[in-house]
Amino acid sequence: MNIVNYPDPVLRQRAKPLTEINKEVYLKVEEMMELIYQAQGIGLAAPQVGWSVRLFIIDVDGDLHGEKVFINPVITEEVGELNKEEGCLSFPGIMGKVVRAQRIKAQAYTLKGQKIEIEAEGLAARAWQHEIDHLNGCLFIDKMSPASRLAISHQLKEFERSYKGTRIPV
Ligand code: NI
Repeated sequence: MNIVNYPDPVLRQRAKPLTEINKEVYLKVEEMMELIYQAQGIGLAAPQVGWSVRLFIIDVDGDLHGEKVFINPVITEEVGELNKEEGCLSFPGIMGKVVRAQRIKAQAYTLKGQKIEIEAEGLAARAWQHEIDHLNGCLFIDKMSPASRLAISHQLKEFERSYKGTRIPV
């Protein structure tokens, strides 16, 4: 398992709901945990490892019920706006400003199949919105401020130029 980079087409697909939490899911989540740890990332969505299901990992301090793995997540409320820099593990070296809600309420299932409701703010709220976008095939470059987008346009072209399309589906 590897992290796939822009412009891999899997990043543009709408991911499917996860209907069963089985051994295969546990094993893949374990591998994703290893990848996010190695990359020192904050969030990693399943499509970023070529697995097009509605699951992501968020690893930040804060009140997320002590959970890191969120399955079939839905944001139910968004409050406020904040324009801040963010990055993405599928765009190594790229940062840009994106407007996100300041606080969110959301629902998801845990790896144990329990439905939970969370309230998040700050980095956790930003990460949630970023990862939900991944599940809908939306990338942070789509929402970047025009100035940020312009500033990274050369780097994006370089990603597109060097993309080899060698991803092996999992
Ligand atoms: Ni990302």
